[in-house]
Amino acid sequence: MTEGYKVADIKLAEKGREGLYLAGRKMPVTAGIIREDFSKNKPLKGIRIGACLHVTKETGNLARTLMAGGAEVYMCGSNPLSTQDDAAAAMVEDGVHVYAWHGNTNEEYYWCVRQVLDAKPHILIDDGGDLIVTAHKEYPDLIKNGIIACQEETTTGVKRFESMEASGNLKIPLFPVNDARCKNEFDNELGTGQGIVSAIYGMHILFAGKTVVIAGYGHCSSGMALRARGLGAKVIVTEIDPIAALKATYAGYQVMKMDDAISQADVVFTATGCSDVVARKHFDKLKDGCILGNLGHFDIEIATKDLYAYATTRKNIRKDVEELTLPNENKIYLLGQGRLANLVLSEGHPAEVMDQSFALQSLISKYIIENREIFNPGIIKVPEDIDNQVGFLKLQTMGIEIDEWTEEQRRYVMGFEEGT
Ligand SMILES: NC(=O)c1ccc[n+]([C@@H]2O[C@H](COP(=O)([O-])OP(=O)(O)OC[C@H]3O[C@@H](n4cnc5c(N)ncnc54)[C@H](O)[C@@H]3O)[C@@H](O)[C@H]2O)c1
Repeated sequence: MTEGYKVADIKLAEKGREGLYLAGRKMPVTAGIIREDFSKNKPLKGIRIGACLHVTKETGNLARTLMAGGAEVYMCGSNPLSTQDDAAAAMVEDGVHVYAWHGNTNEEYYWCVRQVLDAKPHILIDDGGDLIVTAHKEYPDLIKNGIIACQEETTTGVKRFESMEASGNLKIPLFPVNDARCKNEFDNELGTGQGIVSAIYGMHILFAGKTVVIAGYGHCSSGMALRARGLGAKVIVTEIDPIAALKATYAGYQVMKMDDAISQADVVFTATGCSDVVARKHFDKLKDGCILGNLGHFDIEIATKDLYAYATTRKNIRKDVEELTLPNENKIYLLGQGRLANLVLSEGHPAEVMDQSFALQSLISKYIIENREIFNPGIIKVPEDIDNQVGFLKLQTMGIEIDEWTEEQRRYVMGFEEGT
C-alpha cells in the first residue's frame, strides 16, 4: 500500500478488489496480453504517470497494467461524482497514489489534481482536460522540463486542446486517444450508447412507448438514440450540424429543434459537449414527470444552475436523483446533478469496451517512452498501427480471424493504373 493517497474509506478495498477482478476478466487485452508483456519487458520503468480519469474498476486495471510496466501511478478523478470509492481503495492497496472520492467539492477536486501534478509526472493521461490545463496554468517548470507527452481520453478534452493549439497555447505533445477508431467507434458509441440504460435504471420507467429526446447525433448520441429505439421508445433527435441531422433523418429518427421537441419529451438525454442545450427557455415546456439526464463530459449541457434557481422545491428521491417542482407545479427529475449520468448513477462503461480504450492508453504510454526524442509540442494523431494492433488483439481474444490482402490485392488497391 502507498503512503500518499486520499480516498473516502480504505476499508472498502476488499469490495473494490472484487470489482477489479471481475472487470479484469472482461479486459483480456489490457489486463491480459499487454499486462503480461509489460511485466516481462518493463517499458515504463522509472516513469511517473499522472492520470485524471474516472476512478472505476476498469481504471484500476489500467493502473495495474501501467505499474506492471514499471510505472509509478498518481491518480485523481476526472469528475467529482464518478469515483467508485471501493475501486479507489483497492487501487491504493495496489500501490497507486489515489486522490479521489465520490462527491468532492470543486475546491477538493482541484486539490486532488494538484497532488498528481506535485508528483512531477513524465506522462499525463487526462479525461476532459482539467489536469493538462492546470499543468499549463500553474506548473510552467513541469511543462517545460518534466512532461514528455500526454494523452486525452474524451471528445470534450480534445476540443479544449484543439482550441489551445490553435491559439498557440499548447506547449506539450498530446495524443488525442479519443479520436482513435478503437476508442470512439466503440467506447463512445457502444459504451455511452448503452449508458442511458444503466443511467435510468431505478427510475421505474418503461422506455417502450415513451418519447425520448436525444440531443446530438455524434458518436455517443447516435449510440444512445439506437439503444432508446431498441427499447421501444419513439426517439426525437436534435442537432446543430446539418450532416449529422441528415444522418439521423435517414436512420429513421424524427429531427427537430429542441424548442419544439422538449414539450413532447418523457425523457431527455444530452451528449453534445455544448452548453445550455436544455436552457431556461425550455423549463416551462417540460412535461410533468419528465426525466433529464446528461452523458456529455461537463455539467453544462442542461442548465442546472438556472434550473435549481427556477425550481420552487428540490429534494433527493433516491441517490443522485432529484425531484424539482417548477412554478407551474410540474415535477421533473434530474439525474446526477446534470453530470455524466452513466457514471454517477451507475458504473460507467462496461469493462469489455474500456478494454480497448485502456489498451490504447497503455500502448501509447509505451510509444511515448520509446520515441521520446521525436515529439514536438502539439496534437499528434495516434499512429494507425497502434490503433490496428488493439483491433487485432481484441479480435484475437475473441477467437476471430480476418482476411489479409494478397500482394496482388495490395498493389490493386494502392495503385491507380487499373480502371475499366
Ligand atoms: N458519459 C460518458 O461516459 C462519455 C463517454 C465518451 C464521451 N463523452 C462525452 O460526450 C460528449 C459528446 O462526445 P461525442 O464523442 O459524441 O462528440 P461528437 O462530436 O461525436 O458528437 C457531438 C454531436 O453533438 C452535436 N451538437 C453540438 N452542439 C449541439 C447542440 N447545441 N444541440 C444539438 N446537438 C449539438 C454536434 O453537431 C455533434 O454531432 C462529449 O462531452 C464527450 O466528452 C461522455
